[in-house]
Amino acid sequence: MRLAAAIVAVGCLVGVAIVANRQVGLCLLCHSGPFPEERFQGNLAPPLQGAGSRWSEGQLRLRIVDPGRINPATIMPAYHRTDGLVRVAPAWRGKPVLSAEQIEDVVAFLMTLKD
Ligand code: HEC
Repeated sequence: MRLAAAIVAVGCLVGVAIVANRQVGLCLLCHSGPFPEERFQGNLAPPLQGAGSRWSEGQLRLRIVDPGRINPATIMPAYHRTDGLVRVAPAWRGKPVLSAEQIEDVVAFLMTLKD
């Protein structure tokens, strides 16, 4: 495997871990995904399977960084925005939920979820 491909593969693995993790990403609170081992997946949002066919990389990134830009009434949290939030506990102020690197790993993983 070429180095670049290997780096993308590692990013995807980290992305899977973030998406399926109940403490970090919480994505499965609302979404379901191709994780047969995870019980009680969400049905408040579209299944993540196929997201890589429905959206481009840039569209996926925007939907995770700041979904309110697409749908101001969305219940999905902005994973990489720190301004315009209300009632954020002092310890968390100014800190995004996911770092830029974690966002890239999640996007890399979602890009693999083709229909
Ligand atoms: C509190 C619920 C909630 C959480 C948590 C959540 N989402 Fe969402 N998500 C939604 C809803 C609802 C939509 C549908 C569009 C909208 O309402 O903005 C959506 C839309 C999406 C879409 C576009 C889906 C499509 O194909 O139309 C993607 C991709 C996505 N979310 C990924 C994620 C990822 C990755 C995480 C975790 C890092 C996550 N979401 C966490 C509620 C959530």
